[in-house]
Amino acid sequence: MSSSDYAVFARGLEKRYGDKRALDGFDLTVEHGTVHGLLGPNGAGKTTAVRALATLIRLDGGRAEVGGADVAREARQVRSRIGLTGQYAAVDEILTGRQNLEMFGRLFHLGGTLAARRAQELLEQFDLEAAADKGAGGYSGGMRRRLDLAASMILAPSVLFLDEPTTGLDPRGRSEVWDSVRNLVTGGTTVLLTTQYLEEADRLASRITVIDQGRAIADDTPDGLKATVGGSHLEVVVAEAADLPAVEKAVARVARGATETVIAERRVQAAVTDRVAALTDVARTLQDEGIAVEDIGLRRPSLDDVFLQLTGDRPAQDRDADGAYATYEKTEAAA
Ligand SMILES: Nc1ncnc2c1ncn2[C@@H]1O[C@H](COP(=O)(O)OP(=O)(O)O)[C@@H](O)[C@H]1O
Ligand SMILES: [Mg+2]
Repeated sequence: MSSSDYAVFARGLEKRYGDKRALDGFDLTVEHGTVHGLLGPNGAGKTTAVRALATLIRLDGGRAEVGGADVAREARQVRSRIGLTGQYAAVDEILTGRQNLEMFGRLFHLGGTLAARRAQELLEQFDLEAAADKGAGGYSGGMRRRLDLAASMILAPSVLFLDEPTTGLDPRGRSEVWDSVRNLVTGGTTVLLTTQYLEEADRLASRITVIDQGRAIADDTPDGLKATVGGSHLEVVVAEAADLPAVEKAVARVARGATETVIAERRVQAAVTDRVAALTDVARTLQDEGIAVEDIGLRRPSLDDVFLQLTGDRPAQDRDADGAYATYEKTEAAA
């Protein structure tokens, strides 16, 4: 296949801001009709990559094609093929959802009738009909983000860039946006989605590129990436530190590799393969032995786990800014 057979084909992208290399030899290949995840911590270079591919900033080096057009030499063609949704919603809160979409349609020179028809189609597609004539200021986070998605789809671009579309949303808003993204791809759109959440990339993307310090450090399927990381982790927290050796023994029997004990937190953890069986086995053993368990649960691999495996270190941003990176989700025993 040649480079023009891909929705996005980028090689050796460079972008500097002063001494900072925001992109430092970044490569990306995205197949048509797929959701491709660009996964990385804060400051990794995700937004810079997306803005460069969307022709919004000029590259210092490397070459990129989007929909077969060169971002430097054929910027106009690139722009006619793409849509871009930023991290922050661009909707006008005073206007209704419908008015917002009609306004965007007119901005794109659709003309009144066509803009109204397109707005109606998009309201249906993004499940916003019920709230179509209410002020967008009263929309939930998930609804606003979907309105933003709808606005970026006015001209039915073949490639859509979604920059952290669910950051700041509650779980419900997040799953609403996920549904919308899945619908887009069913409709044939190629989506490049940036995210800090492995879980999000896992749910939506057929392929994931991991970016760190302006470089792609992995490119794999979600399953391949999770296999690298070692699947789910089982965690047990006990009331008494004296029980830790017994817990270690119980966890070791179901662990895929070594167990890890954090004495200060009275916690034992290990990677497991058969999630539910491992959880049940350990819970039963500890109960039989009369050990007081404070918390027991399964934790899916997080971005942190991916980085620990790929680089032997935590995400770059986590080293100097605490709390900024994605925290993991706990799956409670009952779930
Ligand atoms: N306009 C800019 N001026 C200076 N530095 C920038 C600018 N944009 C991005 N950077 C820096 O480039 C790096 C990558 O940023 P960015 O692409 O926004 O990362 P991400 O979207 O993954 O959080 C960061 O260190 C950031 O501070
Ligand atoms: Mg960003």
